[in-house]
Amino acid sequence: MKTVTVSASKVYDIIIDKGILDRAGKLAATVVKPSRAAILTDSNVAPLYAERLESSLGAAGFEPVRFTVAAGERSKSAESYLSLLSFLAQNHITRSDCIFALGGGVVGDLAGFAAATYLRGIKFIQIPTTLLAMVDSSVGGKTAIDIPEGKNLVGAFYQPSLVICDYSTLDTLPENIFADGCAEVIKYGIINDRPLFEKLKSPIMPQIEDIIENCVRDKRDIVNQDERDVGIRQLLNLGHTAAHSIEALSSFAISHGSAVAIGTALISRAAVSLGLCPEADLDEIISMLKSYRLPTECPYRASELARTALSDKKRAGGKISLIMPCGIGNSQIKEINVSELEDIFSRGL
Ligand code: GLY
Repeated sequence: MKTVTVSASKVYDIIIDKGILDRAGKLAATVVKPSRAAILTDSNVAPLYAERLESSLGAAGFEPVRFTVAAGERSKSAESYLSLLSFLAQNHITRSDCIFALGGGVVGDLAGFAAATYLRGIKFIQIPTTLLAMVDSSVGGKTAIDIPEGKNLVGAFYQPSLVICDYSTLDTLPENIFADGCAEVIKYGIINDRPLFEKLKSPIMPQIEDIIENCVRDKRDIVNQDERDVGIRQLLNLGHTAAHSIEALSSFAISHGSAVAIGTALISRAAVSLGLCPEADLDEIISMLKSYRLPTECPYRASELARTALSDKKRAGGKISLIMPCGIGNSQIKEINVSELEDIFSRGL
């Protein structure tokens, strides 16, 4: 078992262990007095893990109620959010109760945003079941829903009270969804952790507890310094400017992790073209992504990527922050003019 403590506006633990779902009730009781437990999950995860979570919560004195959304990004919508709020109200969830997010990033973001806003804020606990949620979205308090104008355009910084990370749930994850999480793991290596990048040259599953802890520590160290994403936290967006465009242009047929992999390959090629990154590091990045069966070629034109990216919330006036890999383990935030974006993307294609 590994524990990583985040010290942001709230101090909380991320507990990483195999089979820990069956102890979720006892662990939750250390941060919230047993009361009603509103579980948000999705149609893939519910049949696999919801009953186990409910039994564990029930044994610890919680009264669980469950709300299930359809699996997939489409459920991170205003409609799902409003339905969830109605469910909470109809089940008389009060400020002394708690929301449990059982699932991947969509469930975690939606549950977190509901927790941040329902009754002006109630406690929530993240129980990530995908690698992507374990190493990234369940940690750091970014919660959001999508609106037709863009992904994550409505949200709040709202930290969970606890993250319970049972990596045995990865055993039931389809290969492509597992690969999505690997894209985010590789990202941490390129940002500022060359030793992590090296570890990923060996098979990931035998070292999964160590890898998850490593990523969560890396993210924790960044979030502790910049919870509200005004500085160093932007490094975590490596590859994401193009990725968000790719996801949107594909109407979310290309998953977040695949889009991050393509975006990372693209921005790494652009960094080499701009003389910022050694070519040998680019070769290593591309081989690493490919070894985890991740895509590296972008199906869209630079003009399409740039147009979509410039409607993104990270635009500040005529400038945009772009994360440039200046070598593996050394990424930097560069502020560029929006007029330069299309050229940078075309260098990366
Ligand atoms: N996933 C990026 C962040 O948490 O800032």
